[in-house]
Amino acid sequence: MKKTFTFLAIAAMLNACSSNKTVKNESATYRPAYHYTPKKNWVNDPNGMVYLDGEYHLFYQYNPFGDKWGHMSWAHAVSKDLKVWEELPLAIPETMNADSSTTMVFSGSAVVDSLNTSGFFEKGFKKGLVAIYTSHIEKKGTGLAQHQSLAYSSDKGRTWKFYDKNPVLDIGLKDFRDPSVFWHEGKWRMIVVKALEYTAQIYESTDLKNWELLSEFGKIGDYAKIWECPSLFKVPVENSDKFKWVSMISSAHEDTDYVGMQYFVGDFDGKKFTPDAQIGVLRIDYGKDFYAAVPFNNLPTKEKNPMIMAWANNWAYAGDIPSEGRRGMFSMPRKLSFINENGKFSLVQKPVYADNIHTETLTLKASELSEAKTLEMKSNSYRLTLSIDLTNSKGFSIDLLKNGEEKSVLNYDKATQKLSFDRTKSGKVDFNKTFPSIESMKVIPQNGILKLDIFVDNSIVEIFANDGRFVLTDLVFPTISGGKISISALK
Ligand code: FRU
Repeated sequence: MKKTFTFLAIAAMLNACSSNKTVKNESATYRPAYHYTPKKNWVNDPNGMVYLDGEYHLFYQYNPFGDKWGHMSWAHAVSKDLKVWEELPLAIPETMNADSSTTMVFSGSAVVDSLNTSGFFEKGFKKGLVAIYTSHIEKKGTGLAQHQSLAYSSDKGRTWKFYDKNPVLDIGLKDFRDPSVFWHEGKWRMIVVKALEYTAQIYESTDLKNWELLSEFGKIGDYAKIWECPSLFKVPVENSDKFKWVSMISSAHEDTDYVGMQYFVGDFDGKKFTPDAQIGVLRIDYGKDFYAAVPFNNLPTKEKNPMIMAWANNWAYAGDIPSEGRRGMFSMPRKLSFINENGKFSLVQKPVYADNIHTETLTLKASELSEAKTLEMKSNSYRLTLSIDLTNSKGFSIDLLKNGEEKSVLNYDKATQKLSFDRTKSGKVDFNKTFPSIESMKVIPQNGILKLDIFVDNSIVEIFANDGRFVLTDLVFPTISGGKISISALK
């Protein structure tokens, strides 16, 4: 039977339930209404995101047996519009070896092998999918091994076969993972990391089976903790016909107790990625819950902008967040572009969001908020779009999901230009001591105005400032549904 996983339908039901009674005492649900999450069990990184024949595929790290990390396999969801996702049966499972160790299917990518370069498909078949993933084996005695392996599918990712000569790339290193493969000028390229050497390697291949090392880069930017889930792709520069290459790396957060993501802007000559000179570390998202984002492959030609999706969580506390028989979710997809700010290229992210999200749109002057402006909300799932004039003010404060003392607070201090998000009183926070936190990012107002597009979805808040130039994503676990929004001036 086909299981249609329609989050919007669930959201509609929740809204309907809450409309004819006091919402106050209804305890909150944490399953998001318009962010994808499977029915049950543990998820982490998105994997093998690829478009084929009218469908966007999202594969992802999944434990089929429970809500803790383990037995890593690739699960599968598809969408026609990136808004409503349908959960499909498990795609690529963990396998048992002869000595009863297992091979887990770690993160990686998927490509459409339309020229059948791999020889896996029938002659002339143009819709073969090949997954390139890290095979991870833990053996008693000999320890850990990580290498890159292949699986292929002739039925749009519904069923998969393992390549019988796996692995295809083994350098004898135990932390060597997360291959991201793309087609470039007639050949396949792979970027993959030596995780604990903070080094990315670039390989090429004509058949996905034989790989030749072309170049490496590493120990630049943030290398305080780890390098995982690398990617390398072209991003168009707004208001021009130019593009720049970007390499995204999942690494440490500014606050090194956590993980986070960084990017390098540069050029790729087919063999070598050369990052531009940069000052400091370029962060993709300033929150604590945006990790392992990678791009979709093979997007339809009408899509001019590459698109990424992330695991919305942080390894610092991922295993402890409240579980409803499922743990973990994904960010909304984000379309990417660069803007040229005096010769420096900065990333701009635009979310792809479901059509019927309840939306509140406000245009305000901070100086006129001497009394707090309060909005009563029926649920904890909505979008709040604000344009706030900062003239003659010190800044503003927005309480989200507010119920008594419980609130998630967004503050803008005009003097420091810092937009910060405080989740220390956001509801359930004591499941892990690293969870209650305050994050901030510097946002420069444009003509005295700050624009915010805030997506609240039961247990996630994604904040896009200045039309996607600065982004902050955080999980929150409010205890009550229908928390208020309250906006006031900073005194
Ligand atoms: C990143 C990561 C990857 C690895 C996967 C295992 O979150 O650690 O490096 O492939 O998760 O689930």
